[in-house]
Amino acid sequence: MRSFLGLKTQQLLSGVFSSSAAVRWRAARTRLLCTSSPDEGKRPPSMLRHLTSKLKATGPISVAEYMREVLTNPVTGYYVKNNMLGPDGDFITSPEISQIFGELLGVWILSEWMGAGRPKQLQLVELGPGKGSLASDVLRVFSQLQSVLCEASVSVHLVEVSPALSRLQAQTLTGDSSREADAEDELVYRRGETAAGLPVSWYRRLDDVPTGFSIFIAHEFFDALPIHKFQRTEKGWREVMVDIDPEKSDQLRFVVTPSPTLASSTFVHADERRDHVEVCAEGGVIVQQLARRIVEDGGAALIADYGHEGTKTDTFRVLSSNVFVRTGFKGHRLHDVLASPGSADLTADVDFSYLRRTAGGGVACLGPVTQRTFLKNMGIDTRMQALLRNCRDPSTRKQLISSYDMLTNPEKMGERFHFFSLLHHSRLATPTRATGMKLEKTSPAPLPVAGFTELSFS
Ligand SMILES: C[S@@+](CC[C@H](N)C(=O)[O-])C[C@H]1O[C@@H](n2cnc3c(N)ncnc32)[C@H](O)[C@@H]1O
Repeated sequence: MRSFLGLKTQQLLSGVFSSSAAVRWRAARTRLLCTSSPDEGKRPPSMLRHLTSKLKATGPISVAEYMREVLTNPVTGYYVKNNMLGPDGDFITSPEISQIFGELLGVWILSEWMGAGRPKQLQLVELGPGKGSLASDVLRVFSQLQSVLCEASVSVHLVEVSPALSRLQAQTLTGDSSREADAEDELVYRRGETAAGLPVSWYRRLDDVPTGFSIFIAHEFFDALPIHKFQRTEKGWREVMVDIDPEKSDQLRFVVTPSPTLASSTFVHADERRDHVEVCAEGGVIVQQLARRIVEDGGAALIADYGHEGTKTDTFRVLSSNVFVRTGFKGHRLHDVLASPGSADLTADVDFSYLRRTAGGGVACLGPVTQRTFLKNMGIDTRMQALLRNCRDPSTRKQLISSYDMLTNPEKMGERFHFFSLLHHSRLATPTRATGMKLEKTSPAPLPVAGFTELSFS
């Protein structure tokens, strides 16, 4: 369906696109998240040691607990360790490939803020901000469109579990101005200020972010949250757990519980037809929190990730060295997800149907639409044409084209990544019409939701 975006969104886009500021291009090495290769010889054994002693003490742990320990353990977790930030450990995600990605999301945020009637307060909340590049690109759009934001009080709130990454984000967004909290139990564990004077605060949990009109962004965040895995057996659903391999005490293996667990009894949908299911209960809780905040305080959430509509089965895997290592549970072999824990990133596809179900009816859900569709609807082609028209340098042109291709090509990130949004119901409400004899004022039609509606530059 083709429809026309409001003039206001088009004006936002042209305000950003007409900027003559030089375009910085980030290294476009590969798609997805690139991590240092799990070098067996050098890997620190501490995580494996920690896990084996835990397993000896408690018995098998759920895959969710394994993933939580491996990724976010406060001492040895993958996201918490410093060495993932070195030259070999960079994130290479869409915001890192090209600044256009963050700019278009910046336009989306402003468009939703305008669609909500330009509230006096705008909290930009990002979950899992990585290096801070996406927030930085969004804030540049805010400063280019300062005349639109006018007197609105803008603040930035980052939910980040990794102190090491928070330092990197602080450097990107606030230079040397940020300060860590004195006490360890402070809800805001770091504070700073951007060059334009916007306050930036860091939290460990979404729950700690103050209430108020907020636009939430989560790019490649939900896929990093722990999943439970369940296997259909002749006796019913059973949970997949992680245990020590009895034949090799320094190796881990998957086992299936002999009887149902609380999780297998509660998380698997009654009419589930698949034989193997992954459930990200933590993601469900976060989506419920987002939905509640949007209902109570207004705002919207934009979630971008790879995922499916409740159709896939075994997607748990390692992201490593630019190579998409498929691992999986089936076959009951020793799998890469269990080898060298803590030395590489673990991930699982996001089940958007589960997120929609857990969001409940209080909010409207849009999408998922593919990244290609979303970026094209947001005007990435127009932006590219303008950049190429003004660019004479052959190598910059080549890089522009290759970054565009990486983000939008269906074979690359274009169809693998999806955008999904939670909105306040009033955002999509149809205008009131005059009824009977009484002349009621007809409110203007709501702005179409950018990105989820095809954009037309008229
Ligand atoms: C895969 S990276 C994505 C980074 C960034 N959004 C990007 O696209 O470049 C995941 C991010 O989420 C953070 N993270 C992972 N689990 C988290 C949790 N449970 N709570 C808060 N942050 C988390 C990581 O430290 C990291 O910043």
